[in-house]
Amino acid sequence: MSDANLEIRAAEVVAKEQQGRRRALRPVGDQAGGTIEVAPTIRALTPYEAVSSQAAIEASPDHHTSFKLDWNECTIEPSPRVNEAIADYLQQGRGLNWYPRLGSKELIEALIDYTGVARDHLLVTNGSDDALRLICSTFLDTDDPVVIPVPTYNHFMVFAQSRGADVITTRGETAFSKNLEGIEQAMSSQTRLLYLVSPNNPTGVVYEPEVVADLCRRYPETLIVLDEAYFEFSQVTGVELVEEFSNLMVTRTFSKAFGLAGLRVGYLAASPELLDGVRRIYNPKSVNTLGQVGAVAALEDLEYLESFLDEVNASKKILREFFDNCDVDARITSANFVVVRMPDVDSALDELEQRGVYVRDRSSYPGLEGCLRMTVGTTEQTERLLDRVGDIFRSR
Ligand SMILES: Cc1ncc(COP(=O)(O)O)c(C=O)c1O
Repeated sequence: MSDANLEIRAAEVVAKEQQGRRRALRPVGDQAGGTIEVAPTIRALTPYEAVSSQAAIEASPDHHTSFKLDWNECTIEPSPRVNEAIADYLQQGRGLNWYPRLGSKELIEALIDYTGVARDHLLVTNGSDDALRLICSTFLDTDDPVVIPVPTYNHFMVFAQSRGADVITTRGETAFSKNLEGIEQAMSSQTRLLYLVSPNNPTGVVYEPEVVADLCRRYPETLIVLDEAYFEFSQVTGVELVEEFSNLMVTRTFSKAFGLAGLRVGYLAASPELLDGVRRIYNPKSVNTLGQVGAVAALEDLEYLESFLDEVNASKKILREFFDNCDVDARITSANFVVVRMPDVDSALDELEQRGVYVRDRSSYPGLEGCLRMTVGTTEQTERLLDRVGDIFRSR
């Protein structure tokens, strides 16, 4: 977003706030009751734009052949063991009438092995969005300065702003730089929280553990949140640093590489002291039973995960070659998506959709003018995709 855009956004927020005041939740028709106002911090928020192609795909007669490449989900079903474990659980009559296992005990055991992090450093959450929201609710208050390098995963801004935090964004020379200088300029000893996504969505920028450790050392009073939703694709992680630094929290998810987006399971790794803070508002029932069963089963089949990661890497090679050959400006990221710059992104998006290919428009993001983001799947899917829509990219 250019500075001009930032100003526009601020103006929009104010306009929405004024509109919000006028449009308080008034009783409808002859409803009884008074006017309920939305809390002022929430009234000022620009909602996170959650545009999914799911409904369009489901409504389309040839939905079986559509490509859903807009939300960076796994493009294949999860390990068959996940379905088996869920079916077994239900067949054994271990009913859904009970609340979920508190504290996700089995899943925590499996995560200790998977992450290499000790039990008291782990907390399972309802997707990693839940972890991010819990972090903001626990550690942020009105006017707390929060630094966010952009472009990035904007949903976090909503969580921070809903606490009334003062969000300070910084953008690098290009959208694809780590922007360490900009981060440093934006930071101060007062900065309450720094949000880093690695690999970053949508740019794929990776913050290596050395970089994260250095920031943790230099800003001991700042809570550094490292969002590793796409870690499996890059295999670069700072998770073990949570045992060393008391100001670092790492969030991860089963929604991407493991293919369990529909089950809503994520987790948080941090020092026991930080987690004690989060537990003050944590809902121990928030991770559903089938999600816990499914995530444990997914961790029992890491071969399946690895074969999918190999597929994605091989697909990225195919795409690299394809975009180089047709001279298209494309960034093959270290996550499961690519960013492609098109001279006329709107018409490209229309044409792609007409052929059943749904990708994400990212052209309004700072430094990503004209760009779309497209999820990467298996090699078979990638070959089929290029057969179907390769000419749309080639003809630009
Ligand atoms: C960077 C990043 N963090 C978090 C999330 C949320 O994931 P979850 O499904 O675990 O809530 C996403 C989802 O797209 C993401 O891109």
